[in-house]
Amino acid sequence: MSDTIRTIQVHTAPSYAVSIGAGLLRRCGESLRAIMPVCHVAVITDSNVAPLYLDTVCESLRSAGYTVSSHVFPAGETHKNFETLSDILEFLAEAQLTRTDCIAALGGGVTGDMAGFAAGCYLRGIRCVQLPTTLLSAVDSSVGGKTAIDLKAGKNLAGVFLQPAAVLCDTDCLTSLPAAVFADGAAEAVKTGVLSDESLFSLFEDGTLTSAPADVIARCVAYKAGVVERDEKEQNERRLLNLGHTIGHAIEKCSGYSIPHGHAVAAGLAIMARAAETLGWTEEPIAARIAACLAKNGLPTDTEYSAEALTAAALKDKKRAGDSITIVVPKKIGRCELKKLPVTELYGVIAAGLEG
Ligand code: GLY
Repeated sequence: MSDTIRTIQVHTAPSYAVSIGAGLLRRCGESLRAIMPVCHVAVITDSNVAPLYLDTVCESLRSAGYTVSSHVFPAGETHKNFETLSDILEFLAEAQLTRTDCIAALGGGVTGDMAGFAAGCYLRGIRCVQLPTTLLSAVDSSVGGKTAIDLKAGKNLAGVFLQPAAVLCDTDCLTSLPAAVFADGAAEAVKTGVLSDESLFSLFEDGTLTSAPADVIARCVAYKAGVVERDEKEQNERRLLNLGHTIGHAIEKCSGYSIPHGHAVAAGLAIMARAAETLGWTEEPIAARIAACLAKNGLPTDTEYSAEALTAAALKDKKRAGDSITIVVPKKIGRCELKKLPVTELYGVIAAGLEG
């Protein structure tokens, strides 16, 4: 991979840079010194990522003058819960982090969500930097400040918005990802293509995501940055980024989180596109094209769960508001719309999107 570092500025308050390129973890200490004085950095990571990158990150931070502590929690969505959050908060207190210190979230989406949430509530909020190591966290979850844990009733039901102080996305990490984990991120990237435009979407049809991932990540982040800048707290436009997620979260929940987020979102996106086409909501035939693109990227396009089971799970989703739920409808590549439905109509939409 080339040494080019692509930088995208996210103009929220505070504003921050997302840097994308090779070798960023081994240089993270010096990169952070450019934006943050010497302090105590608590690196939070999971048991999959710790053996790969924790030493590199801690060494780079120490060389740059930071005091460093680290905490490793068990990997997996089933650990994105109160118990793990509580362990992280107790660790931060034991390590005596103060309000001028910082958390570094090193890992994928679960780590970014958990560590970000801890940063948002420890001492009522301290700084957090995101060091994404998966494609999913690079293209989506490390940017935009959403943090969360899952509750028994559903996914991401407790959390805070906390924009990171910086995001350093080291594309070297992508080379060590198992194919299924890479595909997981491809789902969020394809979703961004459907939302954004033909030219981005076609990069997932022609294999550019695997041949030039840094360019594709930069384009996805630039798109997301624009949305987040216009609607940081998801009052309106940002809800479009939930394309595929109402059904996707329901699939995750029905599977007891054994189906990973990206795979569930891919199936949710394909089901939503088929439903939109069947119900006459699309402006051009897109369902087969989206499904083919997802399949090309190693992703599922359907689910074994029934419309009844998915509807029951989806109605516990945070996108429900009283007796209505807002879904994201793809009209054509590059144009999606929010549609508010009475909850009684969700079953019909999901049933229309299931194959067979
Ligand atoms: N992952 C969707 C969002 O950040 O809004």
